[in-house]
Amino acid sequence: MKRIGIFTSGGDAPGMNACIRAAVRTAIYHDMEVFGIKYGYDGMIKGDIFPMDSHSVSNIVQKSGTKLKSARSKDFQTKKGRERAYYQLTRFGIEGLIAIGGDGTFTGAKVFFEEFNLPVIGVPGTIDNDLFGTDNTIGFDTAVNTALQAIDKIRDTADSHDRVFFIEVMGRDSGYIAIQSGIGGGAELVMVPETETTITEVISTLKKGWTRQKTSSIIVIAEGDEAGNAVEIAEKVKSQIKEKDFRVSILGHIQRGGAPTAHDRILASRLGVGAVEGLREGKKNVMVGIINNQLTFTSLEESITKQKPLNPDLIRMVDILSI
Ligand code: F6P
Repeated sequence: MKRIGIFTSGGDAPGMNACIRAAVRTAIYHDMEVFGIKYGYDGMIKGDIFPMDSHSVSNIVQKSGTKLKSARSKDFQTKKGRERAYYQLTRFGIEGLIAIGGDGTFTGAKVFFEEFNLPVIGVPGTIDNDLFGTDNTIGFDTAVNTALQAIDKIRDTADSHDRVFFIEVMGRDSGYIAIQSGIGGGAELVMVPETETTITEVISTLKKGWTRQKTSSIIVIAEGDEAGNAVEIAEKVKSQIKEKDFRVSILGHIQRGGAPTAHDRILASRLGVGAVEGLREGKKNVMVGIINNQLTFTSLEESITKQKPLNPDLIRMVDILSI
């Protein structure tokens, strides 16, 4: 394979740039040509494609966001859109693709491969850490650290005012960011989509804390929790406990920005190298990941359909550590 294309798609994640840099430089190292595709599948359809050299990825390893820009494409969900995208890739002589993104990106990549047989390797880039076939996704560690810093700051003010804070973190349908930032931040309770927590349990946890003279309480809620969002959960609790002061804080998109951690830069670099070398070796329709420190390849199908379980020990630990 002599010419490959690379793009980022879906929600951006800190470390995507480190991955782009690694992939571009690995391709050049192996005498391949690399083309950047801007704005994900939308750019592919429009032919927003340009040659990249080693210099074009200088000074980005430490930067968040994505140099290649990102989008969630509606047009690529149509056959016509995908045909147009394929036509554009053939115009540039692109023989293989590296798709950096999450489950939406891989769903598109899988369909595209099935229709046009163009080899594609997915690289897991999402703060949600919800892809099967890798211990961590690019951006997850940075997002957890960002959430953790925010939780620490909220704890300071919660403590001064003896308040209860409901802090909502991102993660879509996954509780990974919530559980890790909650444990790291000493939360009294963490609510995740993977296990059910009732309002009665929330109230009982808070009351137990107050009988043990706790002055402030932090409840971390994953945005996809079944009990509702942080505002709804806070309202339900408030309606049953009048004498306490409650506040809600939704951390939102700050979790997607900020300089990637060392862990994310190294993970992204390893996956970028692995993706290009995987394509060279003839791998296709797979996601590159790292499990137990080993580079692995998992079919795109499995990466998006298989559930990545939350370690139940982590959930149990919140109970133990919050007494
Ligand atoms: O998938 C990453 C993510 O940040 C999720 O955690 C969140 O639910 C979603 O993207 C937000 O998407 P958008 O940036 O389109 O609002």
